[in-house]
Amino acid sequence: MIIKSAEFIISNSDYKKCPQDGKPEYAFIGRSNVGKSSLINMLTNRKGLAMTSSKPGKTMLINHFLINEQWYLVDLPGYGYARRGKEGREKIREIIEDYIMERDQLLNLFVLVDSRHEPQIIDLEFMEWLGENGIPFSIVFTKADKQGPVRLQQNIDAYKEKLLETWEELPPVFITSSEKKQGREELLNYIESINKS
Ligand code: GTP
Ligand code: MG
Repeated sequence: MIIKSAEFIISNSDYKKCPQDGKPEYAFIGRSNVGKSSLINMLTNRKGLAMTSSKPGKTMLINHFLINEQWYLVDLPGYGYARRGKEGREKIREIIEDYIMERDQLLNLFVLVDSRHEPQIIDLEFMEWLGENGIPFSIVFTKADKQGPVRLQQNIDAYKEKLLETWEELPPVFITSSEKKQGREELLNYIESINKS
């Protein structure tokens, strides 16, 4: 798929104020610092479209980016950032959960996990919650460039094995590096296939 245009539209803390034009959307979620905003910039080929930071907790709101004037990519705040404090984390969780539960035009949620780390309880529980609520999602491994190919494959195999302890089948899985533009075509083709269906 060719990205002809990518435009920031609006930031919100409330799903009710998100765009109401009914265009399909795809959102990115995961722990703080996993690389959600960087992935949006990589997919759109627009450095600085979504704001990134080496410090966790950068994205605080629901951000809508209109792509090819037809569909949205949505950058969400990360969950689980300890330094935000209990109240801050609760607030973010509420924003995220309300958005996910109420947003009918959300066609797929991409759950990002760092390819270097072992499966984290917070991510596994979040995916279980998605399953219980019938929210379609895929898993995106990020920062693939930060390790060699053998270690990368080992980590991904171990992750899949862990998932198969609770899931009968795996959701679609993508391996990405925003640094090396790895996984771009696969993700865009996947979005295109959903757009057309
Ligand atoms: P929050 O908005 O805080 O939840 O974080 P985020 O998930 O949006 O992460 P962000 O895209 O801001 O990236 C966090 C850090 O990881 C930044 O320093 C990025 O440069 C770095 N990063 C993201 N993706 C990659 C990648 O594929 N490879 C490498 N090497 N670094 C990455
Ligand atoms: Mg971010």
